[in-house]
Amino acid sequence: MARKKKVLITGSSGLIGGIVARGLGHKYDMSGVDIRPSEHIPTHIADMRDFAAIQPAFEGIDSVVDLAALIQVESTWEQVYGNNIPATYNAFEAARQAGVKRIVFASSNHAAGMWEFDEPYRSIVAGDYKGLNPKMLRRVTVDMPIRPDSPYGIGKAFGEATGRFYSEKHGISVLCMRIGTVNKEGKPMTIRQFATILSHRDLVHQVERCLEAPESVRFGIVYGVSKNTWRFWDIEGARKLIGYEPQDDMERWR
Ligand SMILES: NC(=O)c1ccc[n+]([C@@H]2O[C@H](COP(=O)([O-])OP(=O)(O)OC[C@H]3O[C@@H](n4cnc5c(N)ncnc54)[C@H](O)[C@@H]3O)[C@@H](O)[C@H]2O)c1
Repeated sequence: MARKKKVLITGSSGLIGGIVARGLGHKYDMSGVDIRPSEHIPTHIADMRDFAAIQPAFEGIDSVVDLAALIQVESTWEQVYGNNIPATYNAFEAARQAGVKRIVFASSNHAAGMWEFDEPYRSIVAGDYKGLNPKMLRRVTVDMPIRPDSPYGIGKAFGEATGRFYSEKHGISVLCMRIGTVNKEGKPMTIRQFATILSHRDLVHQVERCLEAPESVRFGIVYGVSKNTWRFWDIEGARKLIGYEPQDDMERWR
């Protein structure tokens, strides 16, 4: 039997880390790094800002799923600059030094969140669908300019740029997932979330697609959203690039 790929999840003890570890633990040899232990996979307890402390976790790893971050969109610049930016940079650099082949970076819709304040997205987010046909919607694509909506979004744009650099300069394959909304319920809890939810099974599927994408995929950004009728982010690009085929539409909870 072929050896299982060794996958390291940073921020493994959080919500998404737990969902991914449960969903893909049978397929990969998974481990984590976090400041607190995971219920699901062996965890190297260390702070991603401490390069020497995290390095051992990267030894012998094939692919990294980089999730470690403070996740509140209201985070201050001091929090982003103090935690997320060094944590992200260290993940890429530790991966490079360990010879990791692929990094899946958890970006966020907030890297381009200002689009949401333009029509028709503003109305969709407010649940005002009058006069709109979801089949005719021009969705936000990853080719459109980044428009961070917060220091948190700036941190994610930094991560995407870092990923492009490590891909082009150091030959590591990097895929960035601009995740919409993942909550523990896996269903909409606000009007906006009818558009933005990435269900747990679509999340697991997208991470798996990122890990399995052919080596020829050197860099890419994909939106991480379920096939919600009112999604306003493009998923065609993800289908073409990595074979993402989401199954869930949040209209079933309407
Ligand atoms: N949940 C969402 O809706 C959503 C949306 C877009 C992007 N994301 C991104 O996905 C990733 C995971 O999100 P989540 O919802 O699982 O969040 P979470 O808060 O549940 O998990 C984040 C984990 O990262 C760890 N962490 C943070 N800073 C660290 C550091 N310096 N060193 C070590 N560990 C550290 C935390 O301890 C935590 O276990 C984050 O990067 C987040 O920005 C999440």
